[in-house]
Amino acid sequence: MPETAALLAAIADTGRDPVRGGYSRPVFATAERDLLEWYLAELGRRGLEGETDRNGIVWAWWNPAGAPLRDAVVTGSHLDSVPGGGAFDGPLGVASALRALDLLRERGTEPARPLGLAVFPEEEGSRFGVACLGSRLLTGAIAPERALALTDPDGTTFADAARGAGLDPAGFGRDDEALARIGCFVELHVEQGRGLVDLDAPVAVASSVIGHGRWRFTVHGQGNHAGTTLLADRHDPLLVAALVVAAAREVAAAHPGTRATVGRLNPVPGGANVIASRVDLWLDVRHPEDAVTAAVVAEVSRRAAELATVEGCTVDVREESLSPTVDFDVALFRRLSGVLPGAPLLATGAGHDAGVLAERVPTAMLFTRNPTGVSHSPEEFCTDADAERGSVALADVLADLLA
Ligand code: GLV
Ligand code: MN
Ligand code: MN
Ligand code: MN
Repeated sequence: MPETAALLAAIADTGRDPVRGGYSRPVFATAERDLLEWYLAELGRRGLEGETDRNGIVWAWWNPAGAPLRDAVVTGSHLDSVPGGGAFDGPLGVASALRALDLLRERGTEPARPLGLAVFPEEEGSRFGVACLGSRLLTGAIAPERALALTDPDGTTFADAARGAGLDPAGFGRDDEALARIGCFVELHVEQGRGLVDLDAPVAVASSVIGHGRWRFTVHGQGNHAGTTLLADRHDPLLVAALVVAAAREVAAAHPGTRATVGRLNPVPGGANVIASRVDLWLDVRHPEDAVTAAVVAEVSRRAAELATVEGCTVDVREESLSPTVDFDVALFRRLSGVLPGAPLLATGAGHDAGVLAERVPTAMLFTRNPTGVSHSPEEFCTDADAERGSVALADVLADLLA
């Protein structure tokens, strides 16, 4: 088995979700922490030591020349997953970083700059609602007070969960010293659509991350009995929520290129014979033009308010996160393209820590082919051969940047 696949095989049983299928590895919970232990052990086998910074980002440095920790070339990804996610979103970038380091050493590379490996916490936002929380804290894109007060579905705050993982919540926040160590950041990721399948190529260079955000709609109604409440007397927030889901699709369809998704919906109290008293639903909207995203959210919000009024309910809408479209550093992605002739240039609709870091440091990404074209699902896939090709491409790129 090629080495990248062998690395992933060692964690193939960690965090499997027997109910949803695939993997559920929420940040700071057992499976994600087990993956981190595995990663720290892999670093140790390579003579490297992982150090966790004050935002929970784990760094390791290969710096044989003993250069000052500035202007480093950094690569890495994340180990948390969405609920019922695939095996590759995050871990492939981490395994490839380790494999690329091995390849550089095998080739006798003598880096003129330090190579950094980084693992970011809560990239998915699956537990605390805001994606890329580690990189947002690092760059100051989110205020630490706001991050620390975020809660998971059980009501645990990010502050308490972080404390449970051995971090000190008082230390969270923008870290210019840590940022100053990064000369450039290159994240390898499994492709999350079918771009590379259609182009029949194993590896792509990323050009941009399309803008995206999440909004929480809370519909308030009247909790009541399913058997004794006549239809005319109901104020059912779940009916409103269902119509909002349909409205989101309709509004998105009227704005070509928009992706609008409601993937999480929580009726309270959630009994089969109970009309809900409240429903929270999360709307994810993405479009290359930020103004279109804003227009779609405004229109869905307007329709939600109308739909709520008809049912005698009310609705509040709260922005949970918003990331504008990010164009990756042109000089950097051209340089990557020069190292990888034939690798197509692809934009991505998925969010990444690389997109957040791009606000502060030159950043680029590589994608490896996903033959199913499916992601955030157990069907997400990358062949062993393509995973290895991705690691080799990453090593080639890093060698060029480290020279
Ligand atoms: C994270 O992977 C996202 O794109 O939402
Ligand atoms: Mn990812
Ligand atoms: Mn993801
Ligand atoms: Mn992502």
